[in-house]
Amino acid sequence: MAAPVGVGRVRELLGWIAPPAGGRVLDLGCGYGAWLLELLTVREDLTGVGIDLSLPDGLERATRDRGVGDRVRWEQADATGWEGGLFDVVVCVGASHAFGGLAGTLAAARQHLRPGGQVVLGDTFWETRPTLEALSALDVAADDVPDLPGLLTQVEQASFEPGYGHVSTVAEWDDYEWSWTAFLVDWALREAPTDADREQALAVAREHRQQWLSGYRGVLGFATLVLHDLTPLQETRP
Ligand SMILES: C[S@@+](CC[C@H](N)C(=O)[O-])C[C@H]1O[C@@H](n2cnc3c(N)ncnc32)[C@H](O)[C@@H]1O
Repeated sequence: MAAPVGVGRVRELLGWIAPPAGGRVLDLGCGYGAWLLELLTVREDLTGVGIDLSLPDGLERATRDRGVGDRVRWEQADATGWEGGLFDVVVCVGASHAFGGLAGTLAAARQHLRPGGQVVLGDTFWETRPTLEALSALDVAADDVPDLPGLLTQVEQASFEPGYGHVSTVAEWDDYEWSWTAFLVDWALREAPTDADREQALAVAREHRQQWLSGYRGVLGFATLVLHDLTPLQETRP
Protein backbone atom coordinates (compact mmCIF):
# COMPACT_ATOMS: atom_id res chain seq x y z
CA MET A 1 0.00 0.00 0.00
CA ALA A 2 1.35 3.39 -0.97
CA ALA A 3 -1.29 5.50 0.74
CA PRO A 4 -2.11 6.11 4.43
CA VAL A 5 -4.91 3.54 4.51
CA GLY A 6 -4.77 0.34 6.57
CA VAL A 7 -5.49 -3.02 4.96
CA GLY A 8 -8.72 -3.46 6.95
CA ARG A 9 -9.97 -0.09 5.78
CA VAL A 10 -9.18 -0.99 2.15
CA ARG A 11 -11.43 -4.06 2.48
CA GLU A 12 -14.12 -2.04 4.20
CA LEU A 13 -14.11 0.63 1.48
CA LEU A 14 -14.13 -1.92 -1.33
CA GLY A 15 -17.11 -3.62 0.34
CA TRP A 16 -19.13 -0.61 -0.81
CA ILE A 17 -18.17 -1.15 -4.44
CA ALA A 18 -20.74 -3.08 -6.43
CA PRO A 19 -19.79 -3.39 -10.11
CA PRO A 20 -22.05 -5.52 -12.32
CA ALA A 21 -21.12 -9.16 -12.99
CA GLY A 22 -18.16 -9.29 -15.37
CA GLY A 23 -17.40 -5.60 -14.72
CA ARG A 24 -14.16 -3.75 -15.52
CA VAL A 25 -12.05 -1.82 -13.01
CA LEU A 26 -9.41 0.82 -13.77
CA ASP A 27 -6.77 1.98 -11.26
CA LEU A 28 -5.09 5.28 -12.18
CA GLY A 29 -1.70 5.52 -10.41
CA CYS A 30 -1.97 1.95 -9.14
CA GLY A 31 1.45 1.75 -7.43
CA TYR A 32 1.68 -1.70 -5.84
CA GLY A 33 -1.83 -2.52 -7.07
CA ALA A 34 -3.26 -2.93 -3.57
CA TRP A 35 -6.78 -1.78 -4.46
CA LEU A 36 -7.10 -3.68 -7.72
CA LEU A 37 -5.58 -6.91 -6.35
CA GLU A 38 -7.92 -6.86 -3.36
CA LEU A 39 -11.04 -6.19 -5.44
CA LEU A 40 -10.19 -8.86 -8.03
CA THR A 41 -9.48 -11.37 -5.27
CA VAL A 42 -12.88 -10.82 -3.68
CA ARG A 43 -14.79 -10.68 -6.99
CA GLU A 44 -13.63 -13.44 -9.33
CA ASP A 45 -15.82 -12.19 -12.20
CA LEU A 46 -14.08 -8.80 -12.52
CA THR A 47 -11.18 -7.79 -14.75
CA GLY A 48 -8.91 -4.80 -14.24
CA VAL A 49 -6.26 -2.52 -15.65
CA GLY A 50 -3.68 -0.74 -13.48
CA ILE A 51 -1.76 2.22 -14.87
CA ASP A 52 1.35 3.71 -13.33
CA LEU A 53 4.29 5.77 -14.52
CA SER A 54 6.54 3.18 -12.94
CA LEU A 55 5.40 -0.31 -12.03
CA PRO A 56 7.19 -1.44 -8.85
CA ASP A 57 9.25 -4.60 -8.49
CA GLY A 58 7.15 -7.25 -6.84
CA LEU A 59 3.92 -6.40 -8.65
CA GLU A 60 4.06 -9.48 -10.89
CA ARG A 61 4.81 -11.69 -7.87
CA ALA A 62 1.93 -10.20 -5.86
CA THR A 63 -0.36 -10.77 -8.84
CA ARG A 64 0.72 -14.42 -9.09
CA ASP A 65 0.34 -14.92 -5.32
CA ARG A 66 -3.25 -13.65 -5.52
CA GLY A 67 -3.99 -15.90 -8.51
CA VAL A 68 -5.56 -13.07 -10.53
CA GLY A 69 -2.93 -12.85 -13.28
CA ASP A 70 -5.34 -13.76 -16.09
CA ARG A 71 -7.74 -10.97 -15.09
CA VAL A 72 -5.44 -8.00 -14.59
CA ARG A 73 -3.20 -6.01 -16.90
CA TRP A 74 -0.53 -3.64 -15.57
CA GLU A 75 0.52 -0.88 -17.94
CA GLN A 76 3.49 1.39 -17.48
CA ALA A 77 2.09 4.65 -18.84
CA ASP A 78 1.22 8.24 -18.03
CA ALA A 79 -2.35 8.02 -16.75
CA THR A 80 -3.10 11.58 -17.86
CA GLY A 81 -3.13 10.76 -21.57
CA TRP A 82 -4.19 7.13 -21.32
CA GLU A 83 -7.22 5.83 -23.21
CA GLY A 84 -8.79 2.41 -22.84
CA GLY A 85 -12.57 2.55 -23.04
CA LEU A 86 -15.08 2.75 -20.22
CA PHE A 87 -14.95 1.06 -16.80
CA ASP A 88 -17.53 0.24 -14.13
CA VAL A 89 -15.19 1.33 -11.36
CA VAL A 90 -12.33 3.85 -11.44
CA VAL A 91 -9.87 3.90 -8.55
CA CYS A 92 -7.55 6.86 -8.01
CA VAL A 93 -5.97 6.93 -4.56
CA GLY A 94 -3.10 9.26 -3.73
CA ALA A 95 -2.38 10.17 -7.33
CA SER A 96 -4.36 13.39 -7.82
CA HIS A 97 -1.13 15.39 -8.25
CA ALA A 98 -0.81 13.64 -11.64
CA PHE A 99 -4.07 15.29 -12.75
CA GLY A 100 -3.29 18.75 -11.36
CA GLY A 101 -5.40 18.26 -8.22
CA LEU A 102 -8.88 17.20 -7.21
CA ALA A 103 -10.87 18.80 -10.07
CA GLY A 104 -8.60 17.23 -12.69
CA THR A 105 -8.81 13.85 -10.95
CA LEU A 106 -12.60 13.90 -10.87
CA ALA A 107 -12.65 14.86 -14.56
CA ALA A 108 -10.24 12.02 -15.41
CA ALA A 109 -12.31 9.52 -13.43
CA ARG A 110 -15.45 10.61 -15.25
CA GLN A 111 -13.75 10.34 -18.63
CA HIS A 112 -13.12 6.62 -18.01
CA LEU A 113 -16.33 5.82 -16.13
CA ARG A 114 -19.42 4.11 -17.49
CA PRO A 115 -22.55 6.17 -16.68
CA GLY A 116 -23.74 5.20 -13.23
CA GLY A 117 -20.38 3.72 -12.22
CA GLN A 118 -18.43 4.15 -8.98
CA VAL A 119 -15.15 5.84 -8.12
CA VAL A 120 -12.77 5.19 -5.24
CA LEU A 121 -11.07 8.52 -4.64
CA GLY A 122 -8.27 9.04 -2.12
CA ASP A 123 -7.04 12.59 -1.68
CA THR A 124 -5.62 15.03 0.83
CA PHE A 125 -7.41 17.78 2.75
CA TRP A 126 -6.54 20.19 5.55
CA GLU A 127 -7.32 18.49 8.84
CA THR A 128 -6.60 21.79 10.65
CA ARG A 129 -5.89 25.31 9.46
CA PRO A 130 -2.64 24.93 7.48
CA THR A 131 0.45 26.12 9.33
CA LEU A 132 3.33 27.93 7.65
CA GLU A 133 5.49 24.90 8.39
CA ALA A 134 3.03 22.58 6.61
CA LEU A 135 2.72 24.88 3.59
CA SER A 136 6.48 25.12 3.32
CA ALA A 137 7.05 21.36 3.77
CA LEU A 138 4.47 20.49 1.11
CA ASP A 139 5.37 23.46 -1.11
CA VAL A 140 1.71 24.36 -1.64
CA ALA A 141 -0.52 27.39 -1.09
CA ALA A 142 -3.36 27.10 1.45
CA ASP A 143 -5.94 27.24 -1.36
CA ASP A 144 -4.32 24.36 -3.25
CA VAL A 145 -5.84 21.87 -0.80
CA PRO A 146 -9.48 21.94 0.43
CA ASP A 147 -10.75 21.20 3.90
CA LEU A 148 -12.98 18.10 4.19
CA PRO A 149 -16.30 19.89 3.57
CA GLY A 150 -14.64 21.67 0.63
CA LEU A 151 -13.47 18.34 -0.79
CA LEU A 152 -17.01 16.95 -0.62
CA THR A 153 -18.41 20.11 -2.20
CA GLN A 154 -16.07 19.69 -5.17
CA VAL A 155 -17.12 16.05 -5.47
CA GLU A 156 -20.79 17.04 -5.53
CA GLN A 157 -20.16 19.82 -8.03
CA ALA A 158 -18.68 17.19 -10.35
CA SER A 159 -22.02 15.27 -10.21
CA PHE A 160 -20.83 12.52 -7.89
CA GLU A 161 -22.65 11.50 -4.71
CA PRO A 162 -20.28 10.59 -1.89
CA GLY A 163 -21.25 7.25 -0.33
CA TYR A 164 -19.01 5.55 2.21
CA GLY A 165 -15.84 7.29 3.30
CA HIS A 166 -12.84 6.87 5.54
CA VAL A 167 -10.62 9.57 7.06
CA SER A 168 -7.12 8.25 7.72
CA THR A 169 -6.07 8.18 11.36
CA VAL A 170 -2.77 9.57 12.57
CA ALA A 171 -1.69 5.94 13.12
CA GLU A 172 -2.36 5.15 9.44
CA TRP A 173 -0.39 8.25 8.39
CA ASP A 174 2.46 7.34 10.73
CA ASP A 175 2.59 3.79 9.40
CA TYR A 176 2.70 5.07 5.83
CA GLU A 177 5.41 7.66 6.50
CA TRP A 178 7.57 5.37 8.66
CA SER A 179 7.36 2.64 6.01
CA TRP A 180 8.33 5.10 3.28
CA THR A 181 11.39 6.45 5.09
CA ALA A 182 12.36 3.01 6.49
CA PHE A 183 12.38 1.56 3.00
CA LEU A 184 14.80 4.28 1.87
CA VAL A 185 17.03 3.90 4.93
CA ASP A 186 17.17 0.10 4.55
CA TRP A 187 18.04 0.41 0.88
CA ALA A 188 20.72 3.04 1.64
CA LEU A 189 22.40 0.99 4.37
CA ARG A 190 22.09 -2.48 2.83
CA GLU A 191 21.94 -2.17 -0.92
CA ALA A 192 23.17 1.18 -2.20
CA PRO A 193 25.84 0.39 -4.80
CA THR A 194 28.04 3.43 -4.01
CA ASP A 195 28.72 5.79 -1.08
CA ALA A 196 27.20 8.62 -3.07
CA ASP A 197 23.97 6.63 -3.61
CA ARG A 198 23.83 5.80 0.10
CA GLU A 199 24.29 9.44 1.14
CA GLN A 200 21.72 10.63 -1.36
CA ALA A 201 19.07 8.14 -0.19
CA LEU A 202 19.73 8.96 3.46
CA ALA A 203 19.48 12.68 2.69
CA VAL A 204 16.09 12.16 1.01
CA ALA A 205 14.82 10.10 3.98
CA ARG A 206 16.03 12.70 6.51
CA GLU A 207 14.50 15.59 4.60
CA HIS A 208 11.20 13.75 4.23
CA ARG A 209 11.08 12.86 7.96
CA GLN A 210 11.74 16.51 8.80
CA GLN A 211 8.99 17.74 6.44
CA TRP A 212 6.52 15.27 7.90
CA LEU A 213 7.30 15.53 11.62
CA SER A 214 7.94 19.28 11.75
CA GLY A 215 5.67 20.19 8.86
CA TYR A 216 2.40 18.48 8.01
CA ARG A 217 1.89 15.73 10.61
CA GLY A 218 -1.63 16.18 12.04
CA VAL A 219 -2.30 19.08 9.64
CA LEU A 220 -2.70 17.27 6.33
CA GLY A 221 -5.53 14.75 6.28
CA PHE A 222 -6.34 11.99 3.81
CA ALA A 223 -9.86 10.87 2.89
CA THR A 224 -10.83 7.86 0.79
CA LEU A 225 -14.35 8.10 -0.57
CA VAL A 226 -16.66 5.85 -2.57
CA LEU A 227 -18.40 8.07 -5.13
CA HIS A 228 -21.47 7.30 -7.20
CA ASP A 229 -21.93 8.83 -10.63
CA LEU A 230 -25.20 10.78 -10.67
CA THR A 231 -25.37 11.67 -14.35
CA PRO A 232 -27.81 8.89 -15.42
CA LEU A 233 -30.28 10.07 -12.75
CA GLN A 234 -29.89 13.70 -13.79
CA GLU A 235 -30.44 12.87 -17.46
CA THR A 236 -33.76 11.11 -16.78
CA ARG A 237 -35.15 14.02 -14.72
CA PRO A 238 -37.74 16.14 -16.54
C1 LIG B 1 0.95 7.75 -3.43
S1 LIG B 1 1.12 6.53 -4.70
C2 LIG B 1 -0.45 5.69 -4.57
C3 LIG B 1 -0.42 4.32 -5.16
C4 LIG B 1 -1.72 3.51 -5.06
N1 LIG B 1 -2.84 4.19 -5.67
C5 LIG B 1 -2.05 3.14 -3.61
O1 LIG B 1 -3.08 3.64 -3.10
O2 LIG B 1 -1.33 2.37 -3.01
C6 LIG B 1 0.91 7.50 -6.20
C7 LIG B 1 1.20 6.71 -7.47
O3 LIG B 1 0.86 7.52 -8.60
C8 LIG B 1 1.80 7.25 -9.62
N2 LIG B 1 1.77 8.35 -10.60
C9 LIG B 1 2.15 9.64 -10.41
N3 LIG B 1 1.98 10.34 -11.54
C10 LIG B 1 1.45 9.48 -12.45
C11 LIG B 1 1.04 9.61 -13.82
N4 LIG B 1 1.12 10.77 -14.46
N5 LIG B 1 0.56 8.52 -14.45
C12 LIG B 1 0.48 7.32 -13.81
N6 LIG B 1 0.85 7.14 -12.52
C13 LIG B 1 1.33 8.21 -11.85
C14 LIG B 1 3.10 7.11 -8.87
O4 LIG B 1 4.09 6.44 -9.65
C15 LIG B 1 2.67 6.33 -7.64
O5 LIG B 1 2.79 4.94 -7.84
